[in-house]
Amino acid sequence: MNELLLIALAYMIGSVPTAIWVSKSFFGIDIRDYGSGNAGATNTFRVLGSKWGSFVMLVDVIKGVIATSLYILLPYYLTNEWDRTNLMIGLGLAAVLGHIFPVWANFRGGKGVATLLGMAVAIQPLVALCCIGVFLIVLYLTRFVSLSSILAGISFMVFILFIFNEEETLYRIFAVLVALMVVLTHQKNISRILKGTESKVPILRHRDR
Ligand code: G3P
Repeated sequence: MNELLLIALAYMIGSVPTAIWVSKSFFGIDIRDYGSGNAGATNTFRVLGSKWGSFVMLVDVIKGVIATSLYILLPYYLTNEWDRTNLMIGLGLAAVLGHIFPVWANFRGGKGVATLLGMAVAIQPLVALCCIGVFLIVLYLTRFVSLSSILAGISFMVFILFIFNEEETLYRIFAVLVALMVVLTHQKNISRILKGTESKVPILRHRDR
């Protein structure tokens, strides 16, 4: 087993299209034909309810954690911290790309947020916790899951670059990539927010009154 094989395996784990398989197996529909059309936890919440939404979110986060932790299969990386971190970044990104472009679902997947979170939990748990905080605050204030995801992703970059001041170049590039990725995968959401047509979290709807 070498690094490239592990990265391919991480991509395949990330490719598991949880939302699509759940919607097809238990409801006979393809989640991509409903709601926002996204094959992710948020759209599963929206279309299939909170039980299945939570399930999809959990599995998609776990995909990121497992794929990023595959380095444990190569003993060398257990004792070499920076090499390990670099490999973890490669594995995590492969899983996130798998989630967005899943080999098991015609390369039409989700936006990668839950899997990115799993990756962040495995590599930088404290930063991941801070990003969850940003997500929850923005969600409370705006009720847009998409905007909360975008700002959590951007805050990941800000935390790594300026607050935790990581010096390793690869780490810094990775942080910028995460921010770029969340913006790129949420382009449709951004235009819906600007047009005023983006949907909000239903559970907080009572505040409209
Ligand atoms: O993680 C995806 C979320 O940020 C947006 O999902 O379904 O509203 O496009 P959705």
